[in-house]
Amino acid sequence: MSRTYSHILVTGGSGFIGSNFIRFALEQRSDMRITNLDALTYAGNPENLSDIESDERYTFVHGNIGDDKLVRELVANVDAVVHFAAESHVDRSILDSKPFLETNVMGTQCLLDACRHVWSENSDGKAPFAAKRFHHVSTDEVYGSLPLDQPEVMFTEDTPYDPRSPYAASKAASDMLVRAYEHTFGMDCTITNCSNNFGPYHFPEKVIPLFVTNLMEGEKVPLYGDGLNVRDWLHVVDHAEAVLTVLENGKTGETYNVGGNNERSNLELTNSILSIMGFGEEKIRYVEDRAGHDRRYAIDATKIKRELGWQPTRSAWPAALEETVQWYRDHEDWWKRVKSGAYREYYAKQYKAG
Ligand code: NAD
Ligand code: TYD
Repeated sequence: MSRTYSHILVTGGSGFIGSNFIRFALEQRSDMRITNLDALTYAGNPENLSDIESDERYTFVHGNIGDDKLVRELVANVDAVVHFAAESHVDRSILDSKPFLETNVMGTQCLLDACRHVWSENSDGKAPFAAKRFHHVSTDEVYGSLPLDQPEVMFTEDTPYDPRSPYAASKAASDMLVRAYEHTFGMDCTITNCSNNFGPYHFPEKVIPLFVTNLMEGEKVPLYGDGLNVRDWLHVVDHAEAVLTVLENGKTGETYNVGGNNERSNLELTNSILSIMGFGEEKIRYVEDRAGHDRRYAIDATKIKRELGWQPTRSAWPAALEETVQWYRDHEDWWKRVKSGAYREYYAKQYKAG
């Protein structure tokens, strides 16, 4: 069954994935209106959507997903919520986990409660949640860490939760809340758990934009531990397409894993970036490992491929990585502004050991 939505509320739409999702959804669905609720934390940047600001189908609201009154007003006018807003960086959750609990857990609770009440009160005699959907965007990190010596083992939707960083624990808690609202109140919810994204507008504290922009600034790249940790890289627009697919075609109450089938060790990733940019291994600075660093993430995306026909079509390397590096070369103004100010303080604190 395919649904259409005339007006959706996107949370966290000024961040990396949310902004790519909004651009993609507006391109693909000419009848869709989108309201973006974003608190503009250090990671939120209205510039990420400067090209669609004047599109009359797009509205920006500056606010917090934990603001009960505001959130109730906004959900009253939409037929779906796509929830991206989160504190998203593992290293920051190790420095201070409190904002992660506040936004990822309590913020999600606030949104869910608003949908639960407002959507049932305004149902005009129809089933309370008819034609309304809450889509929650989550991560493969809730499943824990995989061993390096069993490459055939991957995360499926049935893998038990085993979050190991404060970030992953907060996302696992939010996933559980979404499931609980579905089960207890009959809300129509779906969840996607996806692997590491890459592409345009990625905040340069995450490994790919950090390494590319460091090299452009003449700096070295700080590689954690032995560099052998593995991530499964997914292009952000493939992710956006998966979220839109699940929003419109996913079954109520279901979870779908989304991955790029593109596993690389951090050392392989680093060497690829160095080679694309014309540098050698002398640019690597091995630094102290991340506390509790998960060894390997790998997604088995069979379910979304088989049931909903989604495929990653933009994630294949080296082309997708080369295009991404080129995007940062072409958008130096964007990342130079992002990398200035308060971010410098964080960076200095994070890498003081090296
Ligand atoms: P991001 O940090 O780039 O953006 C987060 C956005 O949320 C920012 O615009 C920020 O201003 C906003 N925000 C934060 N707290 C808020 C609050 N209390 N109220 C309103 N807005 C708030 O993150 P991202 O990489 O775009 O990730 C988006 C979502 O995808 C997150 O839920 C994350 O857990 C999930 N995810 C990310 C990845 C990845 O590789 N980046 C992988 C899997 C899942
Ligand atoms: P990151 O981009 O922070 O994403 P996540 O922790 O959500 O997977 O990190 C990706 C991988 O890169 C992870 O194994 C940690 C490693 N890494 C480094 O080696 N150096 C760095 O400076 C950063 C930020 C990450």
